[in-house]
Amino acid sequence: MNSDQCNGILSILTDGMVLLLCNMYSKITDIKTVCLNKEGDAVIILDQTRLPGEEMYLSLSSAEDLYNAIKRLKVRGAPAIGIAAAYGLYVFSRQIKANSYIDFYHSFKGIEDYLAKARPTAVNLQAALDRMDRVVTANASATLPAIQNLLRKEAELIREEDAAACHRIGELGLSLLRPGMGLLTHCNAGHLAVSEYGTALAPIYLGEARGYHFKVFADETRPLLQGARLTAYELHKSGIDVTLICDNMASFVMKKGWIQAVVVGCDRVAANGDVANKIGTSGVAILARHYGIPFYVLGPTSTIDTDCPNGDSIIIEERNPDEITEMWYACRMAPKGVKAYNPAFDITPHELITAIVTEKRIVYPPFDRLV
Ligand code: MRU
Repeated sequence: MNSDQCNGILSILTDGMVLLLCNMYSKITDIKTVCLNKEGDAVIILDQTRLPGEEMYLSLSSAEDLYNAIKRLKVRGAPAIGIAAAYGLYVFSRQIKANSYIDFYHSFKGIEDYLAKARPTAVNLQAALDRMDRVVTANASATLPAIQNLLRKEAELIREEDAAACHRIGELGLSLLRPGMGLLTHCNAGHLAVSEYGTALAPIYLGEARGYHFKVFADETRPLLQGARLTAYELHKSGIDVTLICDNMASFVMKKGWIQAVVVGCDRVAANGDVANKIGTSGVAILARHYGIPFYVLGPTSTIDTDCPNGDSIIIEERNPDEITEMWYACRMAPKGVKAYNPAFDITPHELITAIVTEKRIVYPPFDRLV
């Protein structure tokens, strides 16, 4: 994408990254969360930390910039992180100066290992890096330009497969829902978190196009407010009936009878069906079980980690406690020096999940064959 394509004005940030200002009136589905620039020498991401106030793209041409963008959630959502990393490996592979395949692969692997450390919980990051790695190792006798070309193709394929999966998840997910239903969602598993369309939000977009007129309740999703800043933003912008609630209001709206189904995304699904998703998801699942509300997890098979036996084996990312005590506020909201604990994800045990919807099928308990 260039500045014309995102309809914007080009300016330069002081830290060397290019910032593209974009048209605030574009449709959400016109926004490309992650893509490659025309020249293939930079990864373009929508800077999600600036939403909902500003739609701006960042052009990232170094591994450090991409690492920081992933770590700081400028690009976030399990599939979007994987796609960004895949494009990044292609871009950075072109910067490697090597006289032999061995030298090339040594540098390539170094970048790969570095990017893998940006965030630990979502499997898509490591899975995308592994796919790109296999392209290099399977073509050890090819020329470096040929390998780089194959890397670009693989990154595009990862994006295309994700887009196709999201649309299919929308269809399958919608088959579980009825017109007019009240739906609760947690965090952001929409267009912004993937290549396009979303996972948990895909049936909502599809349903809207087919006249289902869901009433969506979006948990604000403390501490980083992906529900308030991103889910409310993308659904509201798309004309969908969305009501923002604080995380601790979910039980109240369920008791009122306003919620007929919960739809959430996932960052890693273990072989037994346990699901890692944004912190607070397991609490919503417990409430849903209490009120007899179906709890659906929607995600591509790329988010299923069959090597991971259960939720206890999933590494939970811990983030800076400042995100709880002061970030997003005009002044501190907690006493200076107070201890704060900030895990980014939790595990929803499979017993609480009504069904897992992938692009292949709807999987019901027991979750003994996920892929
Ligand atoms: O920390 P984030 O914003 O990357 O967390 C995102 C989530 O928990 C999403 O629900 C998940 O990645 C699924 S996105 C389709």
